[in-house]
Amino acid sequence: MARAPSKTSPADDSDLRAEMARLGAEIAHHDLLYHGRNAPEISDADYDKLRRRLEALEAAHPTLRSLASPLAKVGSAPADGFGKIRHAVPMLSLGNAFDDDEVTDFTDRVRRFLNVAPELPLAFTAEPKIDGLSISLRYEQGRFVQAATRGDGTEGENVTTNVATIRDIPAQLKSGTAFAIPDVFEVRGEIYLGHEDFRRLNEAQAAAGEKVFANPRNAAAGSLRQLDPVITAGRPLRFFAYTWGEASSLPADTQAGVVAAFKAWGLPTNPLLRVCDGAAALLAFYRDVGERRSTLGYDIDGVVYKVDRLDLQNRLGFVSRAPRWAIAHKFPAEQATTTLLGIDIQVGRTGALTPVAKLRPVTVGGVVVSNATLHNEDEIARKDVRIGDTVVVQRAGDVIPQMVRVVLDQRPADAQPFTPLSACPVCGSPALREADDEAGTADVVRRCSGGLACPAQVKERLKHFVSRNALDIEGLGDKQIEAFYDDGRIQQLADIFTLAERDRQSLNKLKDQKGFGQKSVDKLWAAIDARRRVPLDRFIFALGIRRIGEGTARDLAKAYGSFEALRSGVAGAIAGGRGSEAYQDIDNFEGIGEIVVDALMGFFGDPQNARAVDELLAHVTVTPFERVATSTSVVTGKTVVFTGTLTRITRSEAKAQAERLGAKVAGSVSKKTDYVVAGADAGSKLGKARDLGLTVLSEDEWLQLISS
Ligand code: IVH
Repeated sequence: MARAPSKTSPADDSDLRAEMARLGAEIAHHDLLYHGRNAPEISDADYDKLRRRLEALEAAHPTLRSLASPLAKVGSAPADGFGKIRHAVPMLSLGNAFDDDEVTDFTDRVRRFLNVAPELPLAFTAEPKIDGLSISLRYEQGRFVQAATRGDGTEGENVTTNVATIRDIPAQLKSGTAFAIPDVFEVRGEIYLGHEDFRRLNEAQAAAGEKVFANPRNAAAGSLRQLDPVITAGRPLRFFAYTWGEASSLPADTQAGVVAAFKAWGLPTNPLLRVCDGAAALLAFYRDVGERRSTLGYDIDGVVYKVDRLDLQNRLGFVSRAPRWAIAHKFPAEQATTTLLGIDIQVGRTGALTPVAKLRPVTVGGVVVSNATLHNEDEIARKDVRIGDTVVVQRAGDVIPQMVRVVLDQRPADAQPFTPLSACPVCGSPALREADDEAGTADVVRRCSGGLACPAQVKERLKHFVSRNALDIEGLGDKQIEAFYDDGRIQQLADIFTLAERDRQSLNKLKDQKGFGQKSVDKLWAAIDARRRVPLDRFIFALGIRRIGEGTARDLAKAYGSFEALRSGVAGAIAGGRGSEAYQDIDNFEGIGEIVVDALMGFFGDPQNARAVDELLAHVTVTPFERVATSTSVVTGKTVVFTGTLTRITRSEAKAQAERLGAKVAGSVSKKTDYVVAGADAGSKLGKARDLGLTVLSEDEWLQLISS
């Protein structure tokens, strides 16, 4: 006999409500893990069971149904979470200054680059650095049409529906002001949560038995990335506009002028923004804001300085991922005191053994810290760190917490000194400090000599390879790499790309294992397939070669254009040895020094690495580097050397301009140089250019050439 819907007395009612709220929260939790983090904790079948149970209860008791029920989604997020949006203008980050000298270095650098004499005025804006999440809001004909998160700076997530619920963000820009509204305008700024709203939100979360957020920034991020916009709408998110992306035209010719237009258009702007005339005024602003920090009502983690004139910003351009015309001046790191419980040794992808402090958990700047880096054994000795000590730890922004010092007068009698290991704790290979020939001392880093024979090094290389700024394979994070390595599925880079094929043939299928449903398995295969073609700069970075970070990887990609060219260049240097012409050719490229050339030779000269790369290339196509020439010209693809003193623009500006036009700028003259631009007092490079019969241009001839 079918059971009649139960009649509920108020007492039963509260049980039902509690169960429905619990189910709702559980489903929302698994939605987030699945869609937001690609890290499901339960099988698809178990997830469906939860949903069916809640559906049945909601159907039987429609009056108890919650507006926030995960079953009542307004609109629909794409099946795989948020869709992706490619930023027409990348969302960049900022360089940092941590003290006054770094700020004066910044203003001096800007003056030198632009050739503005110290006595001439040069205006900068100064404003608080909001500690929230950056967002790009697209307005067309003044109407809000799209919002994207920063993501990796090139591609973000489409959070339009959620952002549309934020009251601070106008659906329509105000027209009829002194500032005409461009047809297309991307407003960029920070979404944040005020202190008072954060406190109230956490109170409500705690009362509902839900997750309490560690700090306002995490709460803002969690609120924005809800798949259910009804939840976002219930969170009091705020916004400050401070910059822009794609724009069909600009409302002013200074930074402060554009921000004034934002304000006129009805966008919230930070009231503390000031225009300052040099380093002294910027530093005074920093101190003033620092003193008022706790009274602002929202978190800031420093101040930002920007060159005010937009024509000067354009001339200054960018280095790597940050503008030359702006810098963040950070507030000092927050500190706390705790106990050092032990010292673990972590093995990195290049074999570096890093001691890590295991701490009694302590809250520093709103985040619970239980590990801190100790850098290396010399640092431990210098700070005289012993296990059992009371220590001061600090945390600044997103950086790894650091151990600052030991509180010596609280040292217990039984505190244990640290003894460096002579063998790798993972593979047992000898762990050595290489000799630093130049300094005549041992390198500060102790390294495991196991190379690809050390499981820890292999795992770390795999993790690096798939990480966000490398191949960025969604759904293949540290946890999955650990598991796949341990169960033998992935032992080397190429295995990532044969995983799906082997899984199809295997009895031990991924989807039958804990944590993987068919949907997540399909998503993983798709994410891996999407990376069978990869841009050269990402690929070079992803290999995890010592000393080759993202900037150098980009410089190498720029210099060589293709992976084959890079490899044959390095093979030439290996065959010819240090100092050979082939070696010199690599060293000559802008941004590449001997340390990098040696690292490349070390990496590709190791047969194990060479084999691993060959096997990888059987599955991956490396696409040529796309020169970010903002415009093309006769010098696109040409190699240029600047020498001597230029008078119309500085040498740095000339180099930046050439790169914007897609030219390669080399540090020294060789047969491969197309143009040598010689200013006054050009020395040996000019002589060599003449000997080689190269085209030598004067500064004026060069400027004429690039404007033709
Ligand atoms: S200007 C081209 N101004 O800080 C870079 N950024 O560390 C334009 N941020 O990604 C950024 N407050 O999310 C700028 N007043 C401010 C800011 C600010 C916070 C964030 C922003 C950026 C990050 C860089």
